[in-house]
Amino acid sequence: MKTLEQVLVRLLIWIPLGHSMQTAPRIITLLETVDVLLDHNATFICEVESRPPALITWTKNNHPIMYYDTRYLTREQGQMLVIPHVRESDNGEYCCLANNGIGEPAKSCGALQLKMKPQIKQQPRNLTLVITSKAVLPCFTLGNPKPEITWLKDNNPVKLSDSITILDSGALKIHNIQKEDAGQYRCVAKNSFGLALSKPVTIEVQAPARILRAPKEKRVPSGSQITLECNATGIPIPAITWLENGNTISGASVDETIVGDVILSVLRVTVVKHALYTCMASNRHSGGANTVKATAGVAVAGMADTAAFVCE
Ligand SMILES: *[C@@H]1O[C@H](CO)[C@@H](O)[C@H](O)[C@H]1NC(C)=O
Ligand SMILES: *[C@@H]1O[C@H](CO)[C@@H](O)[C@H](O)[C@H]1NC(C)=O
Ligand SMILES: *[C@@H]1O[C@H](CO)[C@@H](O)[C@H](O)[C@H]1NC(C)=O
Repeated sequence: MKTLEQVLVRLLIWIPLGHSMQTAPRIITLLETVDVLLDHNATFICEVESRPPALITWTKNNHPIMYYDTRYLTREQGQMLVIPHVRESDNGEYCCLANNGIGEPAKSCGALQLKMKPQIKQQPRNLTLVITSKAVLPCFTLGNPKPEITWLKDNNPVKLSDSITILDSGALKIHNIQKEDAGQYRCVAKNSFGLALSKPVTIEVQAPARILRAPKEKRVPSGSQITLECNATGIPIPAITWLENGNTISGASVDETIVGDVILSVLRVTVVKHALYTCMASNRHSGGANTVKATAGVAVAGMADTAAFVCE
């Protein structure tokens, strides 16, 4: 029967002896952050020095990776972890753990960061808006690093201001849309891996009909042919119709000319009695239809008036 002393002596002899042959595992190549493009392979290397050889296991976000998990491949006695065709769900922290039963297990961790060229996830769409309303053109993108978004209008960079801003989502917001904002827009998403352009989209700006020049009151001798002018603007260009005492006019002629966004209508009519002439301008836009009116009275001078007029 061995005495306690004998055991202790044997241990004292054995321990230093064993120590020279057996060592706790040591990781000599630490894990590094792996930047990988979508669909490429990611490889983590965890080079271990250990006697006897260590059992190397891996974790992803602190969950053990099972050796039978087909998502992963290991090589070099587990010192290499390969993740083929990386996708977004592979982002995370990976650690290797080396254990040979002697001393503390060794551990090293690194992150997998999916890198991605920008992609336009949702294209902006054509917009038709009424003047002074607000426009939002979305531009949802994917990419890592997060793409920087800029916008082009008619192939020139959009000038940002208090009223034209780019939201965090990448959307272009025009707060108080004006005629000049009409045009063709596209968003540009850019990061260190490349850039993506959205399809071009059109912003059409509409304006409700508005009368610029109203017909003027007149006083004329009975039987005179008069002309009344009315001009109006709007986008689309309004249509002008004339009414006499609220009814359609027969036996009158109308001349129309369009200059830019303005339509000028000249009514020629022969008057024999007092009448009210109404110019009606209307257009239809995304905000609905819109009609504006201006009315002028035409007085027919009686004999007395004519005499008075002649006397003057
Ligand atoms: C990625 O891994 C797969 C599976 O192991 C392999 O077939 C493919 O050749 C690898 N691709 C690259 C670019 O290394
Ligand atoms: C947007 O407008 C342009 C012209 O203004 C047109 O060619 C294009 O087809 C429109 N796109 C959609 C999605 O309606
Ligand atoms: C329309 O009326 C405005 C205001 O009177 C005038 O300045 C403009 O020249 C007119 N335009 C046309 C095309 O008649």
